Amino acid sequence: MKKLIAANWKMNKTIKESVLFIEEFKKIIKNEKNAEIVICPPFTALTALSKELKNSNIKIGAQNMHFEEAGAFTGEISPLMLKETGCEYVILGHSERREIFGEDDLLVNKKIIAALKHGLSPILCIGENLEQKNQGKTKNIIENQLKNCLKSIDKSQMESITIAYEPVWAISRGNPSHKAATKEDAEEGHKFIRSVIEKMFDTAISKNIRIIYGGSMKPENARELLSMPDIDGGLVGNASLDAKSFAEIVKSVK
Ligand code: 13P
Repeated sequence: MKKLIAANWKMNKTIKESVLFIEEFKKIIKNEKNAEIVICPPFTALTALSKELKNSNIKIGAQNMHFEEAGAFTGEISPLMLKETGCEYVILGHSERREIFGEDDLLVNKKIIAALKHGLSPILCIGENLEQKNQGKTKNIIENQLKNCLKSIDKSQMESITIAYEPVWAISRGNPSHKAATKEDAEEGHKFIRSVIEKMFDTAISKNIRIIYGGSMKPENARELLSMPDIDGGLVGNASLDAKSFAEIVKSVK
């Protein structure tokens, strides 16, 4: 399977800015065939980008979703609404959703089940924060997140799921000089995730599932991170906001 390079724009870019980005980005990566590319803009830009990207090699994803189809949930967006925009992917359980908006594994699990029901491919984010890392709890945290978030997911559904390992301490929060995990640390996390998936499901699923890395991935470090055997792509925040820089990361996939 191709490596997946996904842009998480977070709360950045108006519709106009999103379209300008795409116009520039499409030109630079026109002949790029090595990676699967996904852009996750704010909800407001999904429809416009979907139109811009018709017949291109770039797919669209959302950054969050409610698990119900409709109802009295002020401010929320449903899977049906995302499908209608042309969205194929949805990021779920991002650490910013967990830390700032209080989402927990139980809620993330409901969202994953709903996304799959509606034919959206979840990108499930997991990862330890600095305190948990310093207390030596990384593996515990990762294992619990996987078990809780993937509860009652069927083996046959696993091929639609991507896991993003995002050690919270490596996320840039908009600071371009923030340090990513070393390729060795990232690889260790990915390997461990694969071993948990193997225990929970089976060897074939653990081998086939894409586990992508997120946390200060940028043109300077993308190639070495993406060369590790268990790193199947990247979820890129800050460095995805600039078309040239995101294109360079896409081109790092060999
Ligand atoms: P940065 O690339 O800005 O560290 O963000 C990573 C991230 O949170 C992607 O979901």
